[in-house]
Amino acid sequence: MSRPDESDPLLTEQIAYYRAIAPEYEDHTIPGPGEDELIAAIDAFQPTGDVLELACGPGAWTERLLYHATSVTAVDAAPEMLARAKARVGEDRVRFIQADLFAWAPDRRYDVVFFSSWISHVPLDRFGAFWSFVADCLRPAGRVFFIDDAYRTPDELIAGESSSTIRRRLNDGTAYRAVKVPHRPADLEDRLRRLGWRVTVTATSGPCYWGQGMLDRSRGQGGG
Ligand SMILES: C[S@@+](CC[C@H](N)C(=O)[O-])C[C@H]1O[C@@H](n2cnc3c(N)ncnc32)[C@H](O)[C@@H]1O
Repeated sequence: MSRPDESDPLLTEQIAYYRAIAPEYEDHTIPGPGEDELIAAIDAFQPTGDVLELACGPGAWTERLLYHATSVTAVDAAPEMLARAKARVGEDRVRFIQADLFAWAPDRRYDVVFFSSWISHVPLDRFGAFWSFVADCLRPAGRVFFIDDAYRTPDELIAGESSSTIRRRLNDGTAYRAVKVPHRPADLEDRLRRLGWRVTVTATSGPCYWGQGMLDRSRGQGGG
């Protein structure tokens, strides 16, 4: 595993939260329709070739990616999540890597980078660096697909609506702080366009949105 970035206590706590919540992850699924729309969008996108999945969690989307991909490299910081993903999809065509995405660098390039419920957990002041990292993970004509939501309950907003620091609880009440940036599709598209990405972001009929596109390599580095 690459050395974790422990310089930001909030991001360290966010990893601790996901390690602790791994066994009960599905209990905290956000309510609302739209999952079938996300599946249809992924199938239409066709994540073929070698796919890098960031923050794979317990592997639900890894399984879907394997319908299309030749191989999937699935990265997550939580060994408990990786163990669940491994148990779910096996290791045939899948390479699992335990790593902190704020400290990890890829050892190869990919046709597709995919991430679900991850971009909202990247602090805005790391947004540009993160997308620069995504660009470094992609082959020249590589594509990106992501899923997320802006769902935050009043109870979670411990620092107010304008803050991206929230509090989440396990079933036993244990509290952790985490990052949740409530991106809106149009703003996210604009933010990405300014970094040189051609990405369309589409809202489902429920709380989620998905984005798909690629870096406009004629325009620069992809991370500002
Ligand atoms: C909301 S879950 C998403 C899981 C999965 N992609 C899904 O959609 O169900 C966020 C995931 O990010 C992982 N994670 C949190 N901080 C991380 C970090 N710094 N580096 C890598 N993974 C991280 C957690 O372990 C967790 O599996």
